[in-house]
Amino acid sequence: MMTQLKPPILSSSHLDTSIKFKTPSYAFYRLRFHPTRLTLWSFLFLFFLLLFFLCSPPSAGGKRRSLQTTRLPSNWEVKARNSARPQSKTDFTVLVTGAAGFVGTHVAIALKNRGDGVVGLDNFNNYYETGLKKARKTLLDRRGVYIIEADINDAALLTKLFEIVHFTHVMHLAAQAGVRYAMHNPASYIHSNVNGFVTLLEASKNANPQPSIVWASSSSVYGLNSKVPFSEKDTTDQPASLYAATKKAGEEIAHTYNHIYGLSITGLRFFTVYGPWGRPDMAYYFFTKDILRRKEIKIFEGADHATVARDFTYIDDVVKGCLAALDTAKKSTGSGGKKRGTAQLRIYNLGNTSPVPVVKLVSILEKLLKVKAKKRVLQMPRNGDVLFTHANISLARKELGYKPSTDLETGLKKFVKWYLSYYGGKKKSAW
Ligand SMILES: NC(=O)c1ccc[n+]([C@@H]2O[C@H](COP(=O)([O-])OP(=O)(O)OC[C@H]3O[C@@H](n4cnc5c(N)ncnc54)[C@H](O)[C@@H]3O)[C@@H](O)[C@H]2O)c1
Repeated sequence: MMTQLKPPILSSSHLDTSIKFKTPSYAFYRLRFHPTRLTLWSFLFLFFLLLFFLCSPPSAGGKRRSLQTTRLPSNWEVKARNSARPQSKTDFTVLVTGAAGFVGTHVAIALKNRGDGVVGLDNFNNYYETGLKKARKTLLDRRGVYIIEADINDAALLTKLFEIVHFTHVMHLAAQAGVRYAMHNPASYIHSNVNGFVTLLEASKNANPQPSIVWASSSSVYGLNSKVPFSEKDTTDQPASLYAATKKAGEEIAHTYNHIYGLSITGLRFFTVYGPWGRPDMAYYFFTKDILRRKEIKIFEGADHATVARDFTYIDDVVKGCLAALDTAKKSTGSGGKKRGTAQLRIYNLGNTSPVPVVKLVSILEKLLKVKAKKRVLQMPRNGDVLFTHANISLARKELGYKPSTDLETGLKKFVKWYLSYYGGKKKSAW
């Protein structure tokens, strides 16, 4: 019976193929009665399944999938231990997440310079040029700060890391930043800013001793608030972007971990941080690039020609605020996942208190670059940006001694000097 199903002509491979697809019963026959072929098909199926798993795009902006199995160099533990050794009286050992990022690099260097033990962690994702992140890593390497290349969602790695290094503090700066990108890759915000934050807090609360946490929230939590200047007491329930919503979620999550596990947590709401080694997705950075290339730049305005303004804050001022937050952080009260008493929970604005219109930013850049910008003024699209930001910093001034001292012109001068040096090929001397 089965032999009757055999195709009459088998000499031509082309014909053979067409028959295979056109007569399923024949294909079935061949599969069923050739065990080796069946094994081969199964093997191929499993192989392609594995290939699909390994080659599928990274989840949520990170380099790796959320089920993390980070491959690290065999000597990573030795490097982490060495990097973590403090050389100052403070005896601080700080884990800096997002250490290859803009703020993370500056904070890690400042901590190392004063003798704290510092270990960095970053997944080097490609949200913006990874070359810049690698160059920042080189800076940190030279100063003896080791960066572990891993995702904060790697719970197993974090557990191991907290076992081998007893961190006194975590400076948590790893996040999916940027407001507009959330419309292209919303999942990356949940991955890093929500899942990642929770994974890090889980590892921190389980650690013995529990570290104190200082982490970056954002001025974007003020969203559509119109009362100025923005104060920590204002309500923050009108986020204008998914980025803002995830930062707001982070603040609520922080409250929970403080409440249940006794983790000491300080949130810092940064206001448009700028400076050398900055972020290429931010206006001051890509305006500089485009002005130098004589490319048109888009300047947004609100309805009825309302000015768009930002409370630009220079990186050195923000770094001082971060260090002051670490220095004034009280110890967590829990241990081994159990709360033993009430712990500190704080939130501060770290801004500059003097919003500057974006047109003014452009005119300063024109002057510094000695190039006239080709400007196009457009109505601001509804993509998550807000019209203005303006920080009230009296709480940070009072409790952290925070005193920003760099005006936009001075700060941009330093940025432009760095930019020209970095992209002009003198990367080594650009710090
Ligand atoms: N720069 C600003 O103006 C500003 C303003 C408000 C808030 N913030 C916040 O400050 C922090 C630092 O910002 P930045 O400007 O340095 O940004 P950045 O993008 O330069 O740095 C963030 C770093 O985190 C890393 N990262 C992202 N997701 C990660 C993950 N899942 N695991 C491990 N590493 C991951 C990235 O690779 C990057 O190097 C962020 O939390 C950001 O949201 C920044």
